[in-house]
Amino acid sequence: MINRILPVLLVFLSGLTASAAGTTPFWSKTGHRVIGEVAQMHLSRKAGKAISDLLEGETLAEVANYGDDIKSDRAFSEFSPWHYVNFPADKAYTEVTPGPQGDVVQGIEKCISILKDARTSRKDKVFYLKMLIHLVGDLHQPMHIGRAEDRGGNDIQLQWFGRGSNLHRVWDSNLIDDYGMSYSELARTLPRWPGDKIRQIQQGTLYEWVEEIQEVTNRVYASVEVGEKLGYRYRYDWWDTVEKQLLIGGLRLAAVLNDIYG
Ligand code: ADE
Ligand code: ZN
Ligand code: ZN
Repeated sequence: MINRILPVLLVFLSGLTASAAGTTPFWSKTGHRVIGEVAQMHLSRKAGKAISDLLEGETLAEVANYGDDIKSDRAFSEFSPWHYVNFPADKAYTEVTPGPQGDVVQGIEKCISILKDARTSRKDKVFYLKMLIHLVGDLHQPMHIGRAEDRGGNDIQLQWFGRGSNLHRVWDSNLIDDYGMSYSELARTLPRWPGDKIRQIQQGTLYEWVEEIQEVTNRVYASVEVGEKLGYRYRYDWWDTVEKQLLIGGLRLAAVLNDIYG
């Protein structure tokens, strides 16, 4: 009897874990890889060499999900708040007191300062480089600069093509994953911008980037009603924005890395 029940039970349990994983607030694995791939294409020769040496030949796309991969390991729990920041929609990040536990902005700043410090060990350089690659990606997911009251849209329940979802998850993964392209296909088919537009997007401070992304966040919050049934129309209306966030995330990651590694 147990021989017959066990496989059924295992299938049932793996379904549960899969659906639990589906609620986990991660910018899609594909999204992070696209951002890594775009950045890779815009690295200076010197930065590309230094990074390839630290990553032992792995590409930015290959390590882009490291920050999420370590989340389930308690040894890294201090880094969990680094993936996002929540603050009131009508305030600038510079107007709010940063949480003592850290957030995505502080996380990025910390990675940069550790990587620029000549005393940092090679092991730490590898760790904080992988974190930085991941966090610049998270920063560009509009729902990672969210509102505390709905946990960055996690508590705004919606239907996505007839299945239960929420605003955070639509932006983390539903939009990108349902598009059905691999990360390399997506990276290859993103809009091509002229050099001056690329340089303009790469300029500015981290705080200016946050303010700009927050404008997207506010538009995304205004784009749905609680319980709404989303499908093709929503993707049609928002796909350009998804592509733009992936592109600017990648371009800015390259700018940050070129600044660190010369
Ligand atoms: N948990 C609480 N707020 C969050 C956010 N904005 N993004 C991801 N996870 C969260
Ligand atoms: Zn998320
Ligand atoms: Zn993350």
